[in-house]
Amino acid sequence: MRELGWPAAMPTIDRDSIVPIYQQIYEELREAILTGTLPESTRLPPERTLAEKLSVNRSTVVHAYRELVVDGLIEQRVGSGSRVARSAGQPARSADVPWWITLPPWRIGSFPQVLGELAATEHGDRISFVPGVPPLEPSPLAELAKSFERAAGDSDFVLSYGDSEGHLPLREAIAARMRSRGCTVDAREVLVLTGSTQGITLVAQSLAEPGDEIIVEGPTYPGALQIFGIAGLRAIPVAVDADGMRVDHVEAILRTRRPRFIYTMPSLHNPTGVTMNADRRERLLTLAERARVPIVEDDPYGELAQPAMPPLVARSPNYVIYLSTFSKTIAPSLRVGWITAPRTIYERLLLRKQSYDMATSLYVQAGIYDFLSRAYDEHVVRLREELIARRRIAREAIAAHWPKSMRLTGGGGGFYLWATAPREIRARALLDAAERNGATFLFGEAFYAASGGDHNFRLAITPVTREALVEGIRRIGESIAVLAAR
Ligand SMILES: Cc1ncc(COP(=O)(O)O)c(C=O)c1O
Repeated sequence: MRELGWPAAMPTIDRDSIVPIYQQIYEELREAILTGTLPESTRLPPERTLAEKLSVNRSTVVHAYRELVVDGLIEQRVGSGSRVARSAGQPARSADVPWWITLPPWRIGSFPQVLGELAATEHGDRISFVPGVPPLEPSPLAELAKSFERAAGDSDFVLSYGDSEGHLPLREAIAARMRSRGCTVDAREVLVLTGSTQGITLVAQSLAEPGDEIIVEGPTYPGALQIFGIAGLRAIPVAVDADGMRVDHVEAILRTRRPRFIYTMPSLHNPTGVTMNADRRERLLTLAERARVPIVEDDPYGELAQPAMPPLVARSPNYVIYLSTFSKTIAPSLRVGWITAPRTIYERLLLRKQSYDMATSLYVQAGIYDFLSRAYDEHVVRLREELIARRRIAREAIAAHWPKSMRLTGGGGGFYLWATAPREIRARALLDAAERNGATFLFGEAFYAASGGDHNFRLAITPVTREALVEGIRRIGESIAVLAAR
């Protein structure tokens, strides 16, 4: 059995990279196998040995090896460990190797790849402040179940595909709700989406070409950064302060550049919780109109803001593409959101949506429509109250367990707290320590298109019980103290 090429192929890992460590190990080994540094039949070190050498968890190496098995690059046999597969090496010269094995790792630029992490529900024993999901209480489940039962009453209908634009009664109900927030929108301008994530993708692919520039906030929603990165767009970040996006920075950029669109969350911004003030809203709209650059307003939390501000689209429907979702006010598992856009753009979005899924689940739309007409308003009122209570609990726990040197933004009532650690504490190091101590959160760099966020992190205050909220904050406080003492 050959051992050649090893340890020349020993992976090196960069703990500061936003690329997960298992993926770094996988990519390096893959490269070594494909270039022949690790020829066929070479035995790889046992998972435990490699984990010790690299000072990582054994499960990290297990994960990396599993990816190589899936690619057909290594074989694993009980008792004899892992070996480079016989057909794996030097594929460029081997006509037998399927072409997809030789595809390079799919990473465009260095965009954060956190959508999977945001969607995941499993975090082991740790108290997880990662996913932006509504709290378990108030639960919409009992009323939702009734709504689905009522929707199923018309089963022949709800079992079909339905219109790509969406279920008309639901579109009407959405338009009526938007009108009550000051918008002039008709049901026919509403396109129902399979989650607003789909809308961000549609916009990224319909309004811009790879290589085009767009303006985003810094920090911004990392899921959007992943989508923009995959679409090959180049994001120009604009800072956010207590009054929202720095519109003066947007103005400066627009003097010399023509981004394809401006992506913003003016109400209860994710992650900072800040709401853009009225002056800035007006200035941003004026700038966009003058420069003829559309605004993509992502507004999943607007209905939860108090006091509520009219969305940007209310003042400027011809320049604003508006996105929202039921993920934050009912449940993300429904995967239903919507978008409104000027007619010519709407047509493009619709055709592209059809190519993804033909239509959003009609059954789910019919259930949501019923829920909206009976139970939604009351549910949202209770949800707002719960968010306010949780924010108070979180702030009290932070005051009790974290040093005064930690700063917090996010007073507005949304799902998130955005924390800034003092210079000597890096958020990555804090995350490592907190995870060892049984709590986890999302580190700040994931929220920035370029650089930034080294000392920031986001806590979603919603995915845990109230008790776990306090306990998780206490655990993070312990980790802060350990790092501060170093
Ligand atoms: C700003 C923003 N946009 C979009 C989404 C995704 O929403 P959906 O579940 O509708 O795809 C989220 C979820 O966290 C979000 O915070």
